[in-house]
Amino acid sequence: MKNFHTANPEMETAIDRSIPDFPAAQLSDEDKYFKHHKPPSYLPEIESEVKDFIEYHKSTSHKNIVLVTSGGTTVPLENNTVRFIDNFSAGTRGATSAEYFLENGYAVIFLHREFSLLPYSRHYSHTTNCFLDYMTEVNDKVEINPTFADEMLIVLRKYKQAKESNSLLLIPFTTVNQYLYTLRVISELLQLVGKKALFYLAAAVSDFFLPQSRMPTHKIQSQESGGKLEVNLDQVPKFLSRLVDNWAPSALIVSFKLETDRSILIKKAKTALERYQHQLVIGNLLQTRKKEVVFVRPQKDDDEQWIRLNDDQISSNVEIESLIIPQVIKVHEDWINGDN
Ligand code: PMT
Repeated sequence: MKNFHTANPEMETAIDRSIPDFPAAQLSDEDKYFKHHKPPSYLPEIESEVKDFIEYHKSTSHKNIVLVTSGGTTVPLENNTVRFIDNFSAGTRGATSAEYFLENGYAVIFLHREFSLLPYSRHYSHTTNCFLDYMTEVNDKVEINPTFADEMLIVLRKYKQAKESNSLLLIPFTTVNQYLYTLRVISELLQLVGKKALFYLAAAVSDFFLPQSRMPTHKIQSQESGGKLEVNLDQVPKFLSRLVDNWAPSALIVSFKLETDRSILIKKAKTALERYQHQLVIGNLLQTRKKEVVFVRPQKDDDEQWIRLNDDQISSNVEIESLIIPQVIKVHEDWINGDN
């Protein structure tokens, strides 16, 4: 005989009559999104890894922690995904910035598009060289080609330092759904370190997506679509306001604004600041993003601060992130000291 009857209602879900009637709360677009979209199955694993990382730095290293988001999210068109919408980002900004944060004493959670550029290994991948070009054969053994050895030693030392001090945690995503769920989990955990948390949102997040309710299970068949594929996408809710107000209210939040038309960049950056009420927008243009960016901050006299590489810096391959990160850290230090 069974110990339960399926005809009995679950007590936890029964209506509690002791609670007075309130008008039903309206769900925000962000809440609706999470209600109607399933979390990735591996999320609890990530949650526990991130929690351990944050607790270690809170109790042992006392480092500030930055969440760097990097690379582009995909929008699958089928559940068993053959086709998806993607964007241009290779994750250069994020991977490069992560290295400069590490060099400046931060612990880094690197939330990145899987197989996009990673800190340190970026120097040897996605380039015109094959990794074997960095090797040479000497007496039947493989060695590092001396042309690259000095440079590689510097990168190797920094990489080992980051690893040995447990300062770099790599967390992957591919789809926009995975990104949003993972961002929420990490943000909520970062509340553990309050103002010592910094968000540096360099990922290129899709603005449109296909809801799970309308997603076909199998590969779309060309015969069935009459020779045309019409895709009807919904807008991805603007999660930045949730992040600022609920998920990480004490942290310093830096978002990026990407445009291709210079004449609207500052206006769009200011609109983002007004809409989300966060602390800093870094504006960049697709065409010049590796040479110049602009810091836009709320109600500052110098509310547009351009950071540009000069000709000497460009010819000696200085990376603009080596100038951006110390400035971002200054803003974060002021935030921690309450001078903002
Ligand atoms: O990878 P690279 O080639 O180096 O390129 C780097 C970059 C140009 C991608 C990077 O510097 C950059 O500008 N990233 C942000 C691009 C972007 O997605 O902009 P957006 O206008 O869509 O979003 C603005 C901000 O709002 C972003 O920081 C994003 O995290 C956030 N956002 C976006 C959509 C959404 N639904 N919720 C959000 O919170």
